[in-house]
Amino acid sequence: MKKIISINNPKSPISEAYRGIRTSLQFSNLDKKIKIITVTSARQGEGKSTVIANLAVSFANLDKKVLILDGDLRNPSVHKMFGVSNIHGVTDILLGNKEFPETVHCTDIKNLHVLTGGAIPPNPSEMLSSKKMKDFVESLEEYYDYIFIDAPPIGIVTDAGIISTLSDGCIFIVGSNETDIEHAKLAKEKLDSVGANILGTILNKLELTGTDNYYYNYYYQEQSRASRNKKRKNK
Ligand SMILES: Nc1ncnc2c1ncn2[C@@H]1O[C@H](COP(=O)(O)OP(=O)(O)OP(=O)(O)O)[C@@H](O)[C@H]1O
Ligand SMILES: [Mg+2]
Repeated sequence: MKKIISINNPKSPISEAYRGIRTSLQFSNLDKKIKIITVTSARQGEGKSTVIANLAVSFANLDKKVLILDGDLRNPSVHKMFGVSNIHGVTDILLGNKEFPETVHCTDIKNLHVLTGGAIPPNPSEMLSSKKMKDFVESLEEYYDYIFIDAPPIGIVTDAGIISTLSDGCIFIVGSNETDIEHAKLAKEKLDSVGANILGTILNKLELTGTDNYYYNYYYQEQSRASRNKKRKNK
């Protein structure tokens, strides 16, 4: 869990940014429940798993019950991020070899559970589009307040489109300087074509200029100074 800044440095501006996204999600679609959220991108490596892990921690810190489900059955990676085993996972449940309670992992974060991908199947798209998968995901709603599904990039395979039809909303990650506008547009068209409810886009890996950093640092120094003074007064 070394890479998850919301755990390692909850007071950092980046963790604060994740809390901002959390608030936006909580207030998006007020009339419709947003419980199952798919995260995808146009290409590989734009930061889907990183964003999911941090958002999930952020929600779990609000005492919400949260599950991260690895929906990238071709290239599962959630287990690496949380340092758990991937011997059994989603594929075992879909094949009927395991039950959910014996497959899901608890994490060091209270209220945050992880379901890894499991063995890589020969037919990921068919597994994801099966009725068993739909019923399984629906059954999880009973136990969790939020379910984040880590999907493969939408630009490469159809899996993310299939997964997004199982979810209430979808977050699109764009790696700064990693996706050109045409690829991003194509990915959005693919999400639109399956009727995905795109909740928003996260611009990830944005290099801040010196001035922006200064503003953030300044802001946070002011915050911590104010809270230190408050603590002193309370003594
Ligand atoms: N905001 C960020 N700043 C710097 N590095 C980042 C950021 N977000 C992610 N990374 C790094 O980019 C790499 C890819 O991130 P990650 O694995 O989260 O992407 P992904 O979209 O899940 O990849 P894949 O498509 O392979 O599943 C990792 O090394 C991660 O640490
Ligand atoms: Mg990933």
